[in-house]
Amino acid sequence: MIKPQSDLLPRPISNGSISVNMESGNNLTLTWEGLNVYVPEAKEGFFSKKKPKCEKMHIVQNVFGIARPGQILAIMGASGAGKTTLLNVLTLRNNENLVVQGSVKINSKIIDDRKQLSAVSGYVQQNDIFIGTLKVAEHLKFQAMLRMDRHTSYEEKMKRVELVMNDLNLKKCENTLIGVAQLGIKGISGGEMRRLAFASEIITDPGILFCDEPTSGLDSFMAMSIVESMKNLAKQGKTIVCTIHQPSSEIFEIFDRLYLMAEGRSAFLGDLTEAKDFFASQGFTLPINYNPADYYIKTLAILPSNKEESKERVKKICDGYDSSKYCQEAMDNIKKASGEQNLKSASFQSQLSSAYKAGWLTQLKWLIWRSFLSMSRNPMETKILAIQTFFIALIFGLIYLQIEDSQEGVQNINGVLFLLITNASFSNMFGVLNSFPAELPIFYRDHQNSMYRTVNYYLSKLITEVNLLIYLKMEDLSLNF
Ligand SMILES: Nc1ncnc2c1ncn2[C@@H]1O[C@H](COP(=O)(O)OP(=O)(O)O)[C@@H](O)[C@H]1O
Ligand SMILES: [Mg+2]
Repeated sequence: MIKPQSDLLPRPISNGSISVNMESGNNLTLTWEGLNVYVPEAKEGFFSKKKPKCEKMHIVQNVFGIARPGQILAIMGASGAGKTTLLNVLTLRNNENLVVQGSVKINSKIIDDRKQLSAVSGYVQQNDIFIGTLKVAEHLKFQAMLRMDRHTSYEEKMKRVELVMNDLNLKKCENTLIGVAQLGIKGISGGEMRRLAFASEIITDPGILFCDEPTSGLDSFMAMSIVESMKNLAKQGKTIVCTIHQPSSEIFEIFDRLYLMAEGRSAFLGDLTEAKDFFASQGFTLPINYNPADYYIKTLAILPSNKEESKERVKKICDGYDSSKYCQEAMDNIKKASGEQNLKSASFQSQLSSAYKAGWLTQLKWLIWRSFLSMSRNPMETKILAIQTFFIALIFGLIYLQIEDSQEGVQNINGVLFLLITNASFSNMFGVLNSFPAELPIFYRDHQNSMYRTVNYYLSKLITEVNLLIYLKMEDLSLNF
C-alpha cells in the first residue's frame, strides 16, 4: 500500500470528504453465506451437579449478503436484531464465546484469520477508546506509524495524518488532549472523538471499512459529513459496510444498498427503490412524507405491547423476502462473486499475508514513545508515586537515622534493605495494578488491529515504568543515605 506522493499532499478542506489513493486495496467484494450464530449452552456449574436449563440461543439465522466495492451497504434493523453480532462475525472479532457457522469471503477467498482481515480492512467500533493523555495529532501519528505500510516514508505518513485531520475537521483540536473523564482531564468533545475514531481507521486507506453506528452521538451536520466521507471513500473503490441507527432521510438517500435485519434473519437486501417496492408487495406501503428508514425499522420492530402480532408480521416479511425475486437475485450475485477468480488476486494475497505493517523495532520505538508521553502527562499516577516515594523515604530515613557501626547497626541495615526492597516491589506492583486494567481494552483493540506484538507492548511498559521508578528510587536512596 505505497501511496503516490501526489495523493498525500495536504489539500483544502473538501466539505468533510476524504481523498484517498485509488490504487491500494480496492475492488474487494465481501460475501457471507449461511451464517448462523448461536450462544452456546451454559456449561455445567462448578459446584452444581445439575445442568442449567439453558437452551442454545440462535441469534443470527442463516443470513447471507454481499457488499461490493464502490458502494455503501447500510445494515439496519430494530435494536436486538443482530446487527452488531453480524458485524462482529464479519470482522472476526468479539465472538469468542459464540458458535459461528457459515463462510465469509473476500474476492472468493475464505477469510478465517483476523490478522489477514485487518490487513485489508478497518473497523470503527461503537465505543470510542483512546489513551486520553495523548493529543489528537499524537494519537493519529501513532496509528499512522504502526498501521501504514513499512515502505511508506515518515514524511508521507505525516502528510497522511495532516490530510486526514484536515478532511475530518480535526485540525482545530490537533493539540488538544483527548481527555480522561475518570481523572477529570477535560478533552475533546464527543463528536470530535467519534471523528477521531473514524480518522484512526481510514488513515490506513483500507479496502473494506466496517463501521458500527458511526453517526451515533453526532449532530446532524457532523453525521452528514461522516456519511459523506464514507460515500467519497466508496466512490474511490472502497467497500463500506455500516450499521446505522436512525438515519435522517437525507442520510438515508446517500446509501447505495440496504440490508434489513429482524430477529436475527435477513429481511431485505437490495437498493433503496427495491426496498420500497418489496415492502409495498408485502402490504406495507411507505407513506408519503415519511422517513423510509424510520418506517422500515418500525415495521420490523418487536413491540413489547404487541409481541405476538409483531413477531407474526416480522416472520411474514422475512418469509416473503426468502421467496422473493430480490432474494433470488442476491443469492445469484453472491454465488457469482464468491465463485469468480479475482483478477488482482496476486496483490490481494500479498496484502493478506503481511500481518504486521511495522517492523519489530519500529513497534517498540513508537510504543515507548506513546508510553512515555502518556506517563509524563498522567499527573495522578506520577504525582502519587512521587509523593508516596518521598514520604516513605522520609519515614524510613527518620526511623533508621544515625545507625551506629556495631553488630546492632549491621542488623538494622539488614532490616532497612529488606524494607526498601519490599516497598519497591509492592509500590511498583500497585502502580501497575492501577494503570494496566485501564489500558487493557486499548491494548486488546490495537492487538486485534495487528498493530504490535504483545511482547513489544510488555517491553515498552517495562522500559518506561522501570525508567520512571529508577528515577524515583534514586531520589529515595539519596534521601536515605
Ligand atoms: N454474547 C451474547 N450472549 C447472549 N446473547 C447475545 C450475545 N450477543 C448478542 N446477544 C443477543 O443477540 C441479540 C442481537 O444482539 P445485537 O447483535 O447486539 O443487536 P443489535 O446490534 O442489532 O442491536 C440480542 O437479543 C442480544 O441480547
Ligand atoms: Mg448494536
